[in-house]
Amino acid sequence: MPRVQTTKLRGADAAPTPGAPEARQVRAMFDRIAGRYDLLNRLLSGTLDRSWRRRAAAAALAGLARPRVLDLCTGTGDVAAALRAARPEAVLFGADFSMEMLRRAARKERGLRLVAADALALPFAAAAFDVVTVAFGVRNFSDRGRAFAEIARVLKPRGRLVILEFAPARRGLFGACRRLYCGFLLPRIAALCAQSPAAYRYLPASVDRFPPPAELLAELERAGLRPEAPQSLAFGVVALCSALKDANSA
Ligand SMILES: C[S@@+](CC[C@H](N)C(=O)[O-])C[C@H]1O[C@@H](n2cnc3c(N)ncnc32)[C@H](O)[C@@H]1O
Repeated sequence: MPRVQTTKLRGADAAPTPGAPEARQVRAMFDRIAGRYDLLNRLLSGTLDRSWRRRAAAAALAGLARPRVLDLCTGTGDVAAALRAARPEAVLFGADFSMEMLRRAARKERGLRLVAADALALPFAAAAFDVVTVAFGVRNFSDRGRAFAEIARVLKPRGRLVILEFAPARRGLFGACRRLYCGFLLPRIAALCAQSPAAYRYLPASVDRFPPPAELLAELERAGLRPEAPQSLAFGVVALCSALKDANSA
């Protein structure tokens, strides 16, 4: 594992700005909440988050016997664990820029090759992977276009990108309940468990600032990735989106 960076950057302790997150603030925020990240995921989703990751792993691995997979924004390694459980023969890499999150992943998934890396400048050769997965990471990128271009570069032709991400709240009663939960209950539960209310205010706010599906699909296409129709999970709370790299791309 690479050495932990201990230098404090000015302003890094502030929560990132939803919709325009700064990389160093995102990294510092995940370093701060890493210790309670898994517990809060289980608590706040009522343990549903595990089934979302299993669905993403199944979509990522479909039809592939021994794929090379990069789990980008691997965090504490829960998607990597789901990938490993679904396909023990897969060659798995996990990349993230939060050292504290990577430390937890290292304890959890022993066979996972962990790399400290920024999604906007991946330290991998072109066409290195059959599959890239990104769960709950895309909305934290400071430059999605650049990250998608990097993902396209490291994917083999016909390679597959699978994104799992929260979808913005819809109108109506369900949307109102979700806004109440995210705006009121979630930061308070998080404050009790993780002493990081700012982080757990940022997370739902960043979902609300996320571009609508059509815009995201257009961004993927601009990067040379052909998106399929997104699947909606948990009554529209989460979206699962796959995209294929063109067969003729370098
Ligand atoms: C919400 S967590 C998701 C972790 C994991 N994928 C999961 O499903 O639980 C987002 C992760 O993305 C990482 N991340 C955000 N932006 C990144 C970037 N530009 N490069 C690398 N990692 C990034 C964060 O450090 C954090 O670990």
